[in-house]
Amino acid sequence: MVSEQAAQVLVASNRGPVSYTLGEDGTLTSGRGGGGLVSGLSAIGPDTNAVWVCAALADGDREAVRRTGGRLDTGDTGGQRVRMLDIPPEVYADAYNGVANSTLWFVHHLLFQTPLEPAFGAEFRAQWASYETYNRAFAEALADEAGDGAAVLIQDYHLALVPGMLRALRPDLRIGLFWHTPWAPVDFYRLLPDDIGRQLLRGILGADRAAFHTHRWADAFTGCCTELLGGTGKTRIGVHGLGADADFLRERAHRPDVDERLAELREQIGEHDGAPRKAIVRVDRTELSKNIVRGMLAYRQLLTERPEWRERVTHVAFAYPSRQDLTVYRDYTARVQEVADAINSEYGTPGWTPVVLHVKDDFARSLASYRLADVALVNPIRDGMNLVAKEIPVLSEGGCALVLSREAGAYEELGEDALVVNPYDVSATAAALHEALTMDTDDRAARTKRLAAAATALPPQRWFLDQLDALRAV
Ligand code: G6P
Repeated sequence: MVSEQAAQVLVASNRGPVSYTLGEDGTLTSGRGGGGLVSGLSAIGPDTNAVWVCAALADGDREAVRRTGGRLDTGDTGGQRVRMLDIPPEVYADAYNGVANSTLWFVHHLLFQTPLEPAFGAEFRAQWASYETYNRAFAEALADEAGDGAAVLIQDYHLALVPGMLRALRPDLRIGLFWHTPWAPVDFYRLLPDDIGRQLLRGILGADRAAFHTHRWADAFTGCCTELLGGTGKTRIGVHGLGADADFLRERAHRPDVDERLAELREQIGEHDGAPRKAIVRVDRTELSKNIVRGMLAYRQLLTERPEWRERVTHVAFAYPSRQDLTVYRDYTARVQEVADAINSEYGTPGWTPVVLHVKDDFARSLASYRLADVALVNPIRDGMNLVAKEIPVLSEGGCALVLSREAGAYEELGEDALVVNPYDVSATAAALHEALTMDTDDRAARTKRLAAAATALPPQRWFLDQLDALRAV
């Protein structure tokens, strides 16, 4: 039985720490997710009775909610109390796909092709109503679970209206919001309908504290508040740049399954003239903002302009499925595959595959690729943080040169020791790849060491506790 005791610490996020799959025979299998929030929350220990509120994402989750009434069996969650919300599927789809992923994500990552989109009409207004309903369901569940004066940490763009709604229901609570994505410059933010742009800001300003990964995103947010509302009111603004979890990574990356993948990858990459080929590694979700296609075009330009690299380097690109309910994501996934195939047919030889592309998610293989990376390519057109940029230097065995977009949040902490690129500039990226491949070994090792130190400065546990402390101090 889950304890009914009111919680003193609560976390809310769309995606929870556990998900369920429903078998043909009606059995439910639970799987636990990883990520910064899961390990961050673990830092407060099991005795604090914290509750995590999240949404049912698919049928398996909905069935688990039906069987448990929404307070999940702690046997499935590693002891964590989890309240899962079964929001009607149509409402959920409108809020998650329509508003969060197709509108807010697009605004903050500057993804719209503005001649035709966005076009905010009646369909969007209906989706917006669903977004409000979905946010209200979270606010009500949090109000219901929280003890007197409890601290509530709300996560990300799915839940922008929750702080304001929760404040109205429970003025006694301490409410923090962490925004994981970039924040748009004001001229781009203004693409949103005026009333909705203001409603979102007011929703966030319902929090005592709103926090971001970097000063750049925090400043962009306050800029929008000043421009649209005349200021941020009483809400404090914080910056907590989530770091890589070095202890976890180092332990996990040396288990036998990763060693096995490492051997397989080395085999795929192969050798030339008796020396192992160099590896340019990238690992991403196949996400529009990750700029995988331009990364490949830069690699192709490198092979075209500097034939000396042919046969001597391999681009190891892992692009894992993401948000495949959205047509643009499916099209982008197909484009990534096409460009990789084109490069392989243009330059490939019987013994050399220039682009080794894997699209099936495999965490152990990702870690293996980090270990062997000579060059890490992280070139998003815009990114809240980007943890891959932080994780590769921690695990790379021979030292790696980091080619990093200046538009990634990680640039604020890693920029000095990376080779920094404008993500739209394919030629400059090709030049940076060449520079990375030819970087002097000592320089590379020294930079990797400094990158790893900067990358691990704020591990998830500290990241989480800092926010909790700051919220309690308000
Ligand atoms: C990335 C972003 C987060 C976001 C998450 C949602 O990790 O950095 O800001 O919350 O994607 O991904 P999902 O697969 O749940 O849509």
